[in-house]
Amino acid sequence: MDLRGHTALVTGAAHRVGRMLALALGRAGVHVAVHYAHSAQAARETVAQLQALGVRAAAFQADLTQPAAAPRLFAQVQERLGTPRILVNAAAAFVPGRVLDTDLANWNLHLDLNLRAPFLLTQAFARAALPGPGKVVNITDWRAVYPGRKYLAYTISKAGLITLTHMAARELAPGIQVNALALGAVLPPPGHDEAYLQRLVQRTPGRRAIREDEIADALLFLLRNDALTGEVLFLDAGAHLVHG
Ligand SMILES: NC(=O)c1ccc[n+]([C@@H]2O[C@H](COP(=O)([O-])OP(=O)(O)OC[C@H]3O[C@@H](n4cnc5c(N)ncnc54)[C@H](OP(=O)(O)O)[C@@H]3O)[C@@H](O)[C@H]2O)c1
Repeated sequence: MDLRGHTALVTGAAHRVGRMLALALGRAGVHVAVHYAHSAQAARETVAQLQALGVRAAAFQADLTQPAAAPRLFAQVQERLGTPRILVNAAAAFVPGRVLDTDLANWNLHLDLNLRAPFLLTQAFARAALPGPGKVVNITDWRAVYPGRKYLAYTISKAGLITLTHMAARELAPGIQVNALALGAVLPPPGHDEAYLQRLVQRTPGRRAIREDEIADALLFLLRNDALTGEVLFLDAGAHLVHG
Protein backbone atom coordinates (compact mmCIF):
# COMPACT_ATOMS: atom_id res chain seq x y z
CA MET A 1 0.00 0.00 0.00
CA ASP A 2 1.22 3.45 -0.78
CA LEU A 3 0.97 4.97 2.68
CA ARG A 4 1.22 8.65 1.80
CA GLY A 5 -1.98 10.60 2.42
CA HIS A 6 -3.72 7.87 4.41
CA THR A 7 -4.73 8.29 8.06
CA ALA A 8 -3.49 6.09 10.91
CA LEU A 9 -4.80 5.62 14.42
CA VAL A 10 -1.97 4.82 16.83
CA THR A 11 -2.95 3.93 20.39
CA GLY A 12 -0.67 4.94 23.23
CA ALA A 13 1.05 7.37 20.89
CA ALA A 14 1.76 10.23 23.29
CA HIS A 15 5.25 9.14 24.28
CA ARG A 16 7.90 6.39 24.33
CA VAL A 17 7.43 3.58 21.78
CA GLY A 18 3.99 4.74 20.65
CA ARG A 19 5.41 8.15 19.77
CA MET A 20 8.23 6.49 17.79
CA LEU A 21 5.61 4.62 15.77
CA ALA A 22 3.51 7.76 15.22
CA LEU A 23 6.52 9.77 14.07
CA ALA A 24 7.60 7.00 11.70
CA LEU A 25 4.17 7.25 10.09
CA GLY A 26 4.33 11.03 9.97
CA ARG A 27 7.72 10.90 8.22
CA ALA A 28 6.14 8.56 5.66
CA GLY A 29 3.46 11.16 4.89
CA VAL A 30 0.69 9.56 6.93
CA HIS A 31 -1.81 11.68 8.90
CA VAL A 32 -1.92 10.46 12.49
CA ALA A 33 -4.58 10.24 15.20
CA VAL A 34 -2.56 10.29 18.42
CA HIS A 35 -4.43 8.35 21.08
CA TYR A 36 -3.57 8.87 24.75
CA ALA A 37 -5.12 8.00 28.10
CA HIS A 38 -3.41 10.11 30.77
CA SER A 39 -0.50 11.85 29.00
CA ALA A 40 -2.29 14.88 27.54
CA GLN A 41 0.75 17.16 27.45
CA ALA A 42 2.94 14.53 25.79
CA ALA A 43 0.17 13.87 23.27
CA ARG A 44 0.08 17.58 22.39
CA GLU A 45 3.84 17.51 21.87
CA THR A 46 3.58 14.48 19.58
CA VAL A 47 0.85 16.20 17.59
CA ALA A 48 3.07 19.28 17.23
CA GLN A 49 6.00 17.14 16.06
CA LEU A 50 3.77 15.44 13.50
CA GLN A 51 2.37 18.72 12.22
CA ALA A 52 5.92 20.00 11.83
CA LEU A 53 6.48 17.05 9.48
CA GLY A 54 3.68 18.42 7.29
CA VAL A 55 0.95 15.88 8.06
CA ARG A 56 -2.40 16.30 9.81
CA ALA A 57 -2.50 15.16 13.40
CA ALA A 58 -4.82 15.41 16.38
CA ALA A 59 -4.91 13.97 19.90
CA PHE A 60 -7.76 11.76 21.14
CA GLN A 61 -8.25 10.75 24.77
CA ALA A 62 -9.69 7.34 25.68
CA ASP A 63 -9.44 4.93 28.59
CA LEU A 64 -9.25 1.71 26.61
CA THR A 65 -9.83 -0.47 29.66
CA GLN A 66 -13.47 0.53 29.13
CA PRO A 67 -15.04 -1.52 26.32
CA ALA A 68 -17.26 1.30 25.06
CA ALA A 69 -14.22 3.54 24.63
CA ALA A 70 -12.75 1.68 21.63
CA PRO A 71 -15.63 2.12 19.14
CA ARG A 72 -16.16 5.66 20.45
CA LEU A 73 -12.49 6.53 19.87
CA PHE A 74 -12.62 5.08 16.37
CA ALA A 75 -15.76 7.08 15.51
CA GLN A 76 -14.18 10.31 16.80
CA VAL A 77 -11.08 9.76 14.68
CA GLN A 78 -13.17 8.95 11.64
CA GLU A 79 -15.21 12.13 12.05
CA ARG A 80 -12.19 14.39 12.56
CA LEU A 81 -9.55 12.90 10.22
CA GLY A 82 -11.51 10.61 7.88
CA THR A 83 -11.61 6.80 7.85
CA PRO A 84 -8.26 5.45 9.04
CA ARG A 85 -6.69 2.92 6.70
CA ILE A 86 -4.00 2.05 9.26
CA LEU A 87 -4.48 0.91 12.86
CA VAL A 88 -1.49 0.43 15.19
CA ASN A 89 -2.36 -1.11 18.55
CA ALA A 90 0.47 -0.07 20.87
CA ALA A 91 -1.17 0.98 24.16
CA ALA A 92 -0.48 -1.60 26.84
CA ALA A 93 -0.02 -2.23 30.53
CA PHE A 94 3.12 -4.01 31.80
CA VAL A 95 2.82 -4.89 35.46
CA PRO A 96 4.53 -7.86 37.10
CA GLY A 97 2.57 -10.76 38.56
CA ARG A 98 3.15 -14.49 38.88
CA VAL A 99 0.61 -17.31 38.96
CA LEU A 100 0.31 -17.20 42.74
CA ASP A 101 0.10 -13.44 43.22
CA THR A 102 -1.71 -12.13 40.12
CA ASP A 103 -4.97 -10.68 41.40
CA LEU A 104 -8.08 -10.02 39.37
CA ALA A 105 -7.24 -6.34 38.93
CA ASN A 106 -3.86 -7.19 37.39
CA TRP A 107 -5.40 -9.87 35.18
CA ASN A 108 -8.22 -7.64 33.98
CA LEU A 109 -5.96 -4.65 33.30
CA HIS A 110 -3.75 -6.64 30.92
CA LEU A 111 -6.50 -8.58 29.23
CA ASP A 112 -8.76 -5.53 28.86
CA LEU A 113 -6.16 -3.03 27.65
CA ASN A 114 -3.63 -5.23 25.83
CA LEU A 115 -6.01 -7.68 24.16
CA ARG A 116 -9.69 -6.71 24.31
CA ALA A 117 -9.06 -3.12 23.20
CA PRO A 118 -7.05 -4.18 20.09
CA PHE A 119 -9.85 -6.64 19.30
CA LEU A 120 -12.57 -3.99 19.62
CA LEU A 121 -10.55 -1.46 17.64
CA THR A 122 -9.83 -4.03 14.92
CA GLN A 123 -13.55 -4.75 14.74
CA ALA A 124 -14.46 -1.05 14.40
CA PHE A 125 -11.60 -0.54 11.93
CA ALA A 126 -12.59 -3.49 9.75
CA ARG A 127 -16.23 -2.49 9.66
CA ALA A 128 -15.21 0.93 8.35
CA ALA A 129 -12.25 -0.04 6.15
CA LEU A 130 -13.57 -3.15 4.38
CA PRO A 131 -13.39 -4.03 1.52
CA GLY A 132 -10.00 -2.35 1.93
CA PRO A 133 -7.33 -1.27 1.64
CA GLY A 134 -6.43 -1.50 5.30
CA LYS A 135 -3.55 -2.43 7.58
CA VAL A 136 -3.43 -3.42 11.21
CA VAL A 137 -0.18 -3.76 13.15
CA ASN A 138 -0.37 -5.15 16.67
CA ILE A 139 2.59 -4.37 18.92
CA THR A 140 3.47 -7.47 20.84
CA ASP A 141 6.56 -8.69 22.68
CA TRP A 142 9.11 -11.51 22.50
CA ARG A 143 7.73 -12.53 25.90
CA ALA A 144 4.62 -13.77 24.06
CA VAL A 145 6.59 -16.86 23.07
CA TYR A 146 8.63 -17.06 26.30
CA PRO A 147 7.07 -18.84 29.27
CA GLY A 148 8.75 -16.58 31.81
CA ARG A 149 7.67 -16.23 35.43
CA LYS A 150 7.27 -12.56 36.25
CA TYR A 151 4.64 -11.19 33.87
CA LEU A 152 1.83 -13.73 33.69
CA ALA A 153 -1.14 -11.61 32.59
CA TYR A 154 1.01 -9.40 30.33
CA THR A 155 2.51 -12.43 28.58
CA ILE A 156 -0.87 -14.08 28.11
CA SER A 157 -2.32 -10.85 26.70
CA LYS A 158 0.54 -10.51 24.21
CA ALA A 159 0.29 -14.19 23.22
CA GLY A 160 -3.44 -13.65 22.68
CA LEU A 161 -2.61 -10.66 20.51
CA ILE A 162 -0.62 -12.95 18.22
CA THR A 163 -3.60 -15.28 17.92
CA LEU A 164 -5.84 -12.29 17.22
CA THR A 165 -3.35 -11.25 14.53
CA HIS A 166 -3.53 -14.66 12.86
CA MET A 167 -7.31 -14.98 13.02
CA ALA A 168 -8.03 -11.41 11.90
CA ALA A 169 -5.50 -11.76 9.06
CA ARG A 170 -7.39 -14.77 7.79
CA GLU A 171 -10.89 -13.36 8.16
CA LEU A 172 -10.21 -9.85 6.88
CA ALA A 173 -8.27 -10.94 3.79
CA PRO A 174 -7.94 -9.98 1.03
CA GLY A 175 -8.77 -6.35 1.77
CA ILE A 176 -7.02 -5.86 5.11
CA GLN A 177 -3.62 -7.18 6.15
CA VAL A 178 -3.00 -7.80 9.84
CA ASN A 179 0.51 -8.27 11.19
CA ALA A 180 2.32 -8.09 14.50
CA LEU A 181 5.59 -6.49 15.53
CA ALA A 182 7.13 -8.36 18.47
CA LEU A 183 9.55 -5.99 20.11
CA GLY A 184 12.55 -6.70 22.24
CA ALA A 185 13.84 -4.24 24.81
CA VAL A 186 13.53 -0.68 23.56
CA LEU A 187 13.24 1.45 26.68
CA PRO A 188 13.32 0.54 30.36
CA PRO A 189 9.79 0.27 31.75
CA PRO A 190 8.61 3.39 33.62
CA GLY A 191 10.23 3.36 37.06
CA HIS A 192 13.30 1.40 35.90
CA ASP A 193 16.62 2.82 34.82
CA GLU A 194 19.01 2.23 31.94
CA ALA A 195 20.87 -0.39 34.03
CA TYR A 196 17.69 -2.52 34.07
CA LEU A 197 17.56 -2.39 30.28
CA GLN A 198 21.23 -3.26 29.94
CA ARG A 199 20.87 -6.26 32.26
CA LEU A 200 17.97 -7.47 30.14
CA VAL A 201 19.70 -7.06 26.79
CA GLN A 202 22.90 -8.77 27.95
CA ARG A 203 20.88 -12.00 28.02
CA THR A 204 19.95 -11.68 24.32
CA PRO A 205 22.09 -12.78 21.37
CA GLY A 206 22.30 -9.24 20.03
CA ARG A 207 23.25 -7.79 23.45
CA ARG A 208 21.62 -4.49 22.65
CA ALA A 209 18.37 -2.58 22.74
CA ILE A 210 16.22 -1.89 19.70
CA ARG A 211 16.60 1.58 18.17
CA GLU A 212 13.88 3.98 17.06
CA ASP A 213 15.01 3.90 13.41
CA GLU A 214 14.81 0.08 13.45
CA ILE A 215 11.26 0.22 14.80
CA ALA A 216 10.31 2.74 12.12
CA ASP A 217 11.79 0.58 9.35
CA ALA A 218 10.00 -2.54 10.60
CA LEU A 219 6.66 -0.79 10.94
CA LEU A 220 6.83 0.70 7.44
CA PHE A 221 7.94 -2.65 5.98
CA LEU A 222 4.90 -4.38 7.51
CA LEU A 223 2.59 -1.66 6.27
CA ARG A 224 3.91 -1.30 2.73
CA ASN A 225 4.16 -4.96 1.76
CA ASP A 226 0.71 -6.19 0.74
CA ALA A 227 1.89 -9.81 0.50
CA LEU A 228 2.47 -9.93 4.25
CA THR A 229 -0.41 -10.90 6.45
CA GLY A 230 -0.59 -12.94 9.64
CA GLU A 231 3.14 -12.32 10.09
CA VAL A 232 4.82 -11.83 13.45
CA LEU A 233 8.05 -9.94 12.97
CA PHE A 234 10.42 -10.37 15.91
CA LEU A 235 12.45 -7.19 16.19
CA ASP A 236 14.26 -8.21 19.34
CA ALA A 237 17.95 -8.86 18.62
CA GLY A 238 17.16 -12.56 19.01
CA ALA A 239 15.62 -12.46 22.49
CA HIS A 240 12.91 -14.96 21.55
CA LEU A 241 15.53 -17.48 20.39
CA VAL A 242 17.29 -17.59 23.72
CA HIS A 243 14.25 -17.56 25.93
CA GLY A 244 11.75 -19.37 23.74
N1 LIG B 1 9.34 -0.48 26.08
C1 LIG B 1 9.84 -1.59 25.57
O1 LIG B 1 11.06 -1.83 25.58
C2 LIG B 1 8.91 -2.61 24.96
C3 LIG B 1 9.37 -3.91 24.75
C4 LIG B 1 8.52 -4.85 24.17
C5 LIG B 1 7.25 -4.49 23.80
N2 LIG B 1 6.82 -3.22 24.03
C6 LIG B 1 5.45 -2.88 23.63
O2 LIG B 1 5.43 -1.63 22.97
C7 LIG B 1 4.25 -0.91 23.31
C8 LIG B 1 4.63 0.44 23.92
O3 LIG B 1 5.52 0.21 24.98
P1 LIG B 1 5.98 1.40 25.96
O4 LIG B 1 7.06 0.86 26.81
O5 LIG B 1 6.19 2.63 25.16
O6 LIG B 1 4.66 1.54 26.82
P2 LIG B 1 4.47 2.40 28.18
O7 LIG B 1 5.51 3.43 28.33
O8 LIG B 1 4.27 1.43 29.29
O9 LIG B 1 3.15 3.14 27.86
C9 LIG B 1 1.94 2.54 27.95
C10 LIG B 1 1.03 3.19 26.95
O10 LIG B 1 -0.27 2.67 27.16
C11 LIG B 1 -1.16 3.75 27.35
N3 LIG B 1 -2.17 3.44 28.36
C12 LIG B 1 -1.97 3.20 29.68
N4 LIG B 1 -3.16 3.01 30.30
C13 LIG B 1 -4.11 3.15 29.34
C14 LIG B 1 -5.54 3.08 29.35
N5 LIG B 1 -6.23 2.82 30.46
N6 LIG B 1 -6.19 3.27 28.17
C15 LIG B 1 -5.50 3.52 27.04
N7 LIG B 1 -4.16 3.60 26.96
C16 LIG B 1 -3.48 3.42 28.10
C17 LIG B 1 -0.32 4.91 27.85
O11 LIG B 1 -0.96 6.12 27.53
P3 LIG B 1 -0.91 7.40 28.55
O12 LIG B 1 0.54 7.60 28.91
O13 LIG B 1 -1.52 8.49 27.77
O14 LIG B 1 -1.74 6.98 29.73
C18 LIG B 1 0.98 4.70 27.14
O15 LIG B 1 0.99 5.34 25.89
C19 LIG B 1 3.47 -1.80 24.27
O16 LIG B 1 2.52 -2.53 23.55
C20 LIG B 1 4.53 -2.72 24.84
O17 LIG B 1 4.00 -3.94 25.27
C21 LIG B 1 7.60 -2.27 24.61
